[in-house]
Amino acid sequence: MSGSGESGNLTYGDYLRLHELLDLQGDERGISSDEMHFIIVHQTFELWFKQIIRELSETRGILSQVPVPEDDIPRAVDHLARTTEIFRLMANQWTVLETLTPQGFLAFRDGLGTASGFESFQMREFEFLLGLKTEDRMFGMDPIETFRKLAERGEKDSEVLAVLEAQQENVSLYDSFLRWIERTPIMGSSFESEDDESVVRDYVNSHLEAHLQMGNETLGRMSEMDEEVTSRMKERLDSAHDSAISFLIPDGEVSRVRAGLLFIESYRDLPLLTWPRKLIDAFVELEESMAKWRHDHARMVERIIGKRTGTGGTSGVDYLDATARYRIFKDLWEVRTILVKPQNRPDLLNADFYGYTVDS
Ligand code: HEM
Repeated sequence: MSGSGESGNLTYGDYLRLHELLDLQGDERGISSDEMHFIIVHQTFELWFKQIIRELSETRGILSQVPVPEDDIPRAVDHLARTTEIFRLMANQWTVLETLTPQGFLAFRDGLGTASGFESFQMREFEFLLGLKTEDRMFGMDPIETFRKLAERGEKDSEVLAVLEAQQENVSLYDSFLRWIERTPIMGSSFESEDDESVVRDYVNSHLEAHLQMGNETLGRMSEMDEEVTSRMKERLDSAHDSAISFLIPDGEVSRVRAGLLFIESYRDLPLLTWPRKLIDAFVELEESMAKWRHDHARMVERIIGKRTGTGGTSGVDYLDATARYRIFKDLWEVRTILVKPQNRPDLLNADFYGYTVDS
């Protein structure tokens, strides 16, 4: 194995700094194997968190360029895919912790004091980086407040606060991505070109028409059914259609970002849209893997501490379950609700622009 630079007689242990690394698990305190495993699992997660921050920062670096060079998109997809795999791996690691019995944990739990994963500053950093908004967090939780208090403890903690504040101020990965999506050519029309506004408006309106028509077809198929059932269904379809309108035309103005997302999802078979749809899929997969990871954490916690409150002062399992419902990439999820079947989507204009002809 060799590192960069002058690595002539570097050993495996030198390269990985194993002596330092293996000195950090609390052996000097004479800890039990239960506790050592608890520490090692946490440390492993934190190492992965470090890598996640790196992957996501690089993705943001790519997507915040204006314009984003097309050749860079596959790299952005790769960074996200690696992050997803790390979350999947971590989701599987909870089972190692489940070998800890409730009593085995109680034996050393008091020693944790108020220390909790709640204070994982790397976790908060990647949440900010991704774009999780404070107002979307559960129970009014504000991580900056937590770390402002911790910052009084000394220099290292103040540095953590500074990093988190900077990440919160920065344009998030999700916002950079949406800005890129906003520039997607729609029906062959380029962002900010002369007729763009009217082309996009026409596209959105014809999609909404197709959406309405699909609802009417559903109702038509129900004509034999009980009147009450049909009228309940009609209410539901009307409300779904109102939601589709307010999603695409919030405050009376067409959202070009959402129209772009809708366009890519609707015509995802077009060659020119291959990378945009792969990127969208990579974001969706990432969020799905994070939600599952959060969910599995809650199951592990329920098994080990039941409904006890957490050492970090939250309600425990109920809090963790609520966090599994966080959705950062909201529009990517919501657009799925308003899609129509391929036969009903508006006819594609300027098909050759997307590397496709009508007959192909
Ligand atoms: C016996 C093992 C564990 C138990 C009983 C446990 C319990 C909890 C509880 C109850 C919370 C809610 C906050 C609180 O009030 O403390 C929490 C949060 C958290 N835990 Fe664990 N945990 C365990 C292992 C881990 C491990 C190995 C990690 C890996 C780093 C971890 C990471 C986190 C994170 C990041 C949070 C914050 C979640 C959020 O606020 O969104 N936990 N944990």
